[in-house]
Amino acid sequence: MDYITLLLVLSSIIWTYAVFLTLNSKNRKSARLPPGPRPLPIVGNILELGPTPHQSLAKLSRKYGPLMSLKLGSATAVVVTSPEIAKTVLQTHDLAFSSRTVPSAAEAHDHDKFSMAWLPVDVRWRKLRKISKEHMFSVSRLDATQDLRKEKLQKLYDYVNECRRTGQAVDIGEAAFTTSLNLMSATLFSMEFARFGSDSLQEMKDVVWGVMEYIGKPNLADYFPVLKRADPQGVFRKSKFYFGRLLEIFDRIIDEKLEARVTGDKAQKNDLVEALLDLHQRDEISRDEIKHLLVDLFVAGTDTTSGTVEWAMTELIRHPKKMSRIRDELRELTEENRQINESDISRLPYLQAVVKETFRLHPAAPFLIPHKAEADIEINGYVVPKNAQILVNVWASGRDPNTWPDADLFMPERFVDRNEIDFRGRDFELIPFGAGRRICPGLPLAYRTVHLMLATLIQNFGWKLENGEKPEELDMSEKFGLTLQKAIPLNLLPTDP
Ligand code: HEM
Repeated sequence: MDYITLLLVLSSIIWTYAVFLTLNSKNRKSARLPPGPRPLPIVGNILELGPTPHQSLAKLSRKYGPLMSLKLGSATAVVVTSPEIAKTVLQTHDLAFSSRTVPSAAEAHDHDKFSMAWLPVDVRWRKLRKISKEHMFSVSRLDATQDLRKEKLQKLYDYVNECRRTGQAVDIGEAAFTTSLNLMSATLFSMEFARFGSDSLQEMKDVVWGVMEYIGKPNLADYFPVLKRADPQGVFRKSKFYFGRLLEIFDRIIDEKLEARVTGDKAQKNDLVEALLDLHQRDEISRDEIKHLLVDLFVAGTDTTSGTVEWAMTELIRHPKKMSRIRDELRELTEENRQINESDISRLPYLQAVVKETFRLHPAAPFLIPHKAEADIEINGYVVPKNAQILVNVWASGRDPNTWPDADLFMPERFVDRNEIDFRGRDFELIPFGAGRRICPGLPLAYRTVHLMLATLIQNFGWKLENGEKPEELDMSEKFGLTLQKAIPLNLLPTDP
């Protein structure tokens, strides 16, 4: 497109949007949209999002209230920041708010047409939820795969022990990521994907984070659909690359498994892909559905889990007495220093409180996965309009002083005193996994994995910062994507406990 044509196209877009916004600002009053900052012409409030939108919107919510509306280009977003309104959205009006606004990054390779995470609540979505529950997340399936997790945790222990012996620092996020990646690949297709510190590990990490980053990143093409084809920030292109890498890997694995079935040269394994291929042979699931389901489970299950472990260790290194208290609790329970079992978790109240406190301050998905209003819904006298994107800012509500005394302090003790508060979607002040029908299906697996990884790291090792760095000076900044990562990786030296 030459310069003049581009100028003409841009002017007509701007004119159309100016008219649209003028009309819309009239509608805004009559439709009683929730309060919010005044939108600028055309861009609306996009410029207010900044590099860490969860923090910027938390600040705005303090001014405009726990139900706030924004204009993001031509789209309306409604931000929810209190437990009461989160309950209204995710429980009272669960069905009306259970669809998704699909970012164009999720349309790469038609992912949104097959994906459990992006489909609306319909028969296809129900089928995928049912299959993954039956074959992966039910108590009986999880109990049946617990030896496998034990084996991967032993590898984590061996790696850290070797670092302790040689005086080498451990990148905690990376070690936790390797463990979650291998736990996931073992459960999904009986394979180990990555070795600690290997190049293939770095590639997988880049791919998973690439998907999370580009799906979560504010993208002009989502706010101005007319820009979709131009993809001005290259978000769709990059996301296509990362999804493509994962789909390629899963295609190859499926081919190998199908070939092994024909030649009969390998014993059939008891993993998720085998179960899915059985369903495929009975025409109950298509090959595309299998591949995209694997992408969802892999992407949603690895970086969320390892990120939580990294944040927990970051808080604990800043609060050494709390780290010792976990160690004491573990030792008391496991006299001869045996490795803890999944059935032990319920008898470790302080470790559980630390995990809850980590979820409160560092929820892996700060806006959940954004929901969408299927119809105009009235809440507290305001109208949340049909098609609005719903951002439940769990990061902000976790730090709200009206709900949490000393909200900015890491105090797991608050959950020892009030241990009835849980994160399974019933207590709306703590919903890191969401609530209602879209609640994270991987919660039961994440619950086991996060506690076990932390127990393995703390029971057997002492930890200190490198190069005389002081815990109180530790950098706590966050990197925003669909998930929140620690911007600067946590490197710690393992010592004798
Ligand atoms: C600490 C770990 C984890 C956290 C904090 C977490 C959090 C979340 C959140 C907030 C959502 C969106 C809920 C909503 O939209 O209301 C979600 C959805 C999802 N999670 Fe997790 N998750 C974790 C681990 C896992 C694991 C281990 C898996 C699978 C192996 C998984 C698979 C999924 C899938 C497939 C969805 C989409 C569900 C749907 O849209 O119906 N997650 N998760």
